[in-house]
Parts: sequence; structure tokens; C-alpha cells
Amino acid sequence: MKSTFRCSSNIALVKYWGKKPEGIQLPANPSISFTLKDLYTETTVSVLGSNTSGNPEFNFLFEGNPKPSFIPKLTDFFDRILNNYSILKDFRLQINTSNNFHHGTGIASSASGFGALACCLAELEELHSGKPVSVEQISKTARLGSGSACRSMFEAPAIWGSHPSVQGSSNEYAIPFQGNIHEAFAGMMDAVLIVDSGEKSVSSTAGHELLKGNPFSPARCGEATLHLTELCTALETGNMADFIRVVEQEALQLHAMMMLSIPYFILIRPATLSIIEAVWAFRKETSIPVMFTLDAGANVHLLFPGVHYQQVKILIDSRLLEYCQNSEYFCSKIGSAPIKIQ
Ligand code: PMV
Repeated sequence: MKSTFRCSSNIALVKYWGKKPEGIQLPANPSISFTLKDLYTETTVSVLGSNTSGNPEFNFLFEGNPKPSFIPKLTDFFDRILNNYSILKDFRLQINTSNNFHHGTGIASSASGFGALACCLAELEELHSGKPVSVEQISKTARLGSGSACRSMFEAPAIWGSHPSVQGSSNEYAIPFQGNIHEAFAGMMDAVLIVDSGEKSVSSTAGHELLKGNPFSPARCGEATLHLTELCTALETGNMADFIRVVEQEALQLHAMMMLSIPYFILIRPATLSIIEAVWAFRKETSIPVMFTLDAGANVHLLFPGVHYQQVKILIDSRLLEYCQNSEYFCSKIGSAPIKIQ
């Protein structure tokens, strides 16, 4: 028995930052993301033989090589999901995984990695137990590996976290955006500008932790809730100006929360700010709707409708590449559900 899946990374538009004090990996606030079709992980899980130990047993290869630093996170993950996956109790597993973006670019692979792994485990569990595993269950499983991974399950924008005006929304798993997306957002793209490919000085796990008891956290949760409403409305009405405002405000609030943590920390670099200023100047000059967002690092994601690809490429090549480490950037289309590889 074996299962192979490709699962894309995602970039949040409204950011998940901070966990609820109770439960495992439950978000303090709702978030919404785009999946990044062309930045993905491919994972194969194969059954090696029977497992008599009662504990999960697995071999893990990352891009063909052992990766001991990933083992503790995987072990915790398997312990969390053990009761829902009889394959983990009954079989020893071989896990082979690789990304199509090379490791060390600063692009987070935990969302695509745990997303792909959750899809493989679900398929094997279905084959073994004969019971179907729902997409909610797969998303929930992915969440228990890495919070944001639960949003990598849909072609449509993914909403994770309970929100009063989003029917069916849940802290446990992500759901696809149900509205009709306005044609203004057709063929959206993301150009990921690599400002710093090094290891982050503060991991997102540590960053989430620092929000517990932070006096600004309740206000931040309120902002994220409001922004999600505004963003969903903009997606349906085609109000690009509102969409841009919310996306950029969210990126800046995420990093402001890092600066407001104790101990405080800063993940953006001078080059991050130079790119943001150049994007603002370009937008003013051309009225082309290109906007920036950030994840928990120094790299800049430029989002824009695909019809503007040529102009944005000229912007990047002529004005932004000088701020990118090794002149490196990656372009991706938006929107892709996990794909089963035969
Ligand atoms: O899923 P984690 O624990 O790596 O946290 C992701 C946090 C952000 O990328 C900063 C925001 C988000 O919603 O993806």
C-alpha cells in the first residue's frame, strides 16, 4: 500500500497569529489564505510491514536524505493523531517528501508538507479501514501538524477559524470561501521575493506563544475578525482598493505584533521596507493593483491579477531584484487543491 500527494503552500491574507490557550493548535483569530499552486510538496507514504510496538514507527527521507531535525515534530504529530489513524498503529511507514522550491529559501514548507502528509495518511486509512475520511478530517489532521497547513486543502480561498458571519467556519479545520469571486481577482498571482533565506531568529511556534497574555492580543483578534469580513466582501464586490488596504494592513499588523511582544523581535529587514516603498511608488505611478503581504519572515509576497504579469515582472527585474538575496524570486499562480499522484 502506498499513497502520493502533491499539496501547495498557502499565503494568508488575514493572518493567524496566536493560539487559543485551550486545545491543540486552535487559532486565536480567524484567517483566510490563497493556496500557491506552483510552490508545493510531494509526499509518498508507503507501508513497510506490520507494527507490533503500538507506537508510530516510521522512516523519513527529505529529498532522498535522512533529516533528523524533522523527526521530533513528526513524532509529536503522529502522537496527536494516533487514535484517528489505525494505519499508524498497525504498520511501519516509509515517508519520502520533497519540495519543488529548494529548502533554505525562507519559504515555509510546513503548510505544504503537513498538508501532503495528511492527504497520504487519509488515503491509506481509507484503504486500510474501508471508512471514508472527510476533507474536514484531513484539514484537521494537517492543522495538528502545523496550524496554517489546514488551509492548503482548497482551490478556493480557505477560511480557518470560527467567524460569526462565515457559515460553517470552525477553529478545528478550514473551509473553502463560499462566495462568488469577482472577475477583478481572476488569475491572481504571487511573486515571492526572497529577501532572507536564512533560518528565522524566532520561529512561528515561539511567536504564537508570545501572544498569550499580551495586552494587545484582544484588539488584534478584533481587527482580524473585522478584516476577514471586509476581505470577503471585497472578493465578492471586486473592491480592489479595499482588498489591498486589508491585505497590507494585515501584513503590517502581523509584524507590529512581533514588535509588541515581550521579548520583542523584528523579522523584517531593511530590504523588506525598501521593497514595500517601491511597491507603493509603483502603484501610485501606474495604478496597477499590485500589493504586498508578508509571512513570519523577511520575504515579500507580491499579489497581483495575472493580466498585469508583464508589468510586474518589469517592476521586479528593474527595481526590486537588487533587494533579493541572490536575485531570487518565485512566481506562482493562486489556487490549487491537493493532487493525488498516480
Ligand atoms: O502555521 P504556523 O504555526 O507556521 O503559523 C503561520 C503564521 C503565519 O504564516 C504568520 C500566518 C498565517 O496565517 O499563515
